[in-house]
This record gives sequence, C-alpha cells and structure tokens, in this order.
Amino acid sequence: METTYVMVKPDGVQRGLIGEIIGRFEQKGLKLVGLKAMVPSEEIARAHYAVHAERPFFPGLIKFVTSGPVVCMAWAGRDAISVARNLIGPTNGREAPPGTIRGDYGMDIGYNMIHGSDAPETAEFELGLWFSEGVMEWDQTISKWFYE
Ligand code: RTP
Ligand code: MG
Repeated sequence: METTYVMVKPDGVQRGLIGEIIGRFEQKGLKLVGLKAMVPSEEIARAHYAVHAERPFFPGLIKFVTSGPVVCMAWAGRDAISVARNLIGPTNGREAPPGTIRGDYGMDIGYNMIHGSDAPETAEFELGLWFSEGVMEWDQTISKWFYE
C-alpha cells in the first residue's frame, strides 16, 4: 500500500472542477486519507516546488499556486503514486490523452489543474509538508471489491 499527495491547483478550484477531480480518484478505488483546502503560503509553495527553484518558470509557478485556494488530498492504495499519475496525465494538457484529467480539461502546461507526487520519496516529503498533522487511518469496507 502506498499513499500519494494530490492537490487541485487554483485553476481547478476556480473552474469548479474539485468535485469532478475527487470523483475520479474515488471511482478508481483509491482511499481518501486526507482532505483540506487552504490558500498556500509562499513558504509552503516554495518548499513544495523546491526541485524547480532554478527553472525560469519558478516565479510564475509560485505566484500561480499561491493565488487562491488549493485542495490538498492524500490518497492510498496499491501503487497509489503511479495510479494517481496515470489518472492525472502528462504535464501539458494539449498533449495529454483523453480520459486523463489533464487530457479532458486542460489546454496548458502551467494551468494543468492538479498535482500528484511522482515517486515514493516525493510522496513522503509532500505528505509531511502539506499534512504535517498526519493522515487518517480507517477501514474502507468496500476495498475487498477492488482488490482480489
Ligand atoms: P506537478 O509536479 O505539478 O504534478 O506537475 P508535473 O509533475 O506533471 O510537472 P513538473 O515537471 O513537476 O512541473 C511542475 C509544474 O511546473 C509547471 N511547469 N511549467 N512553463 C513551463 O515550461 C513549465 N514546466 C512546468 C507546471 O504547472 C507543472 O505542473
Ligand atoms: Mg512534478
């Protein structure tokens, strides 16, 4: 079992896509173990995207991600990190295949609505950053219908 950090970015919130996005993860069979909304501080946004600090798009990315509310989620399941990334799709919505969130709703690389951790190490770091209070432990009774 893995847990991954997923976040609806300010464009997804502004466009009213929170419900649609959460629904896709629910329907897939992932288990919601953390959920909250906030307007990110510059500090947390910079820490989250620290790996891109030297990239030319970094200042714009920080401005964008701190521009309004985001929805922070933790989703658990078998191979949850890659399962979530596959639901999300490639970074640029114009190139993302239909059926993925970015492929169905996005037209841009910067305004791509959603974030998902890309590896176990980044998931651990991002969950610690955004859910420093920890995530929920609960028994998803229906999970027996998702896993053999
Ligand atoms: P994310 O981290 O947000 O889930 O997205 P990702 O893994 O698909 O893409 P990543 O390479 O980690 O880039 C992080 C975010 O930076 C913005 N970006 N802009 N203008 C550009 O060339 C550019 N490249 C990346 C995107 O918003 C991307 O999600
Ligand atoms: Mg990334």
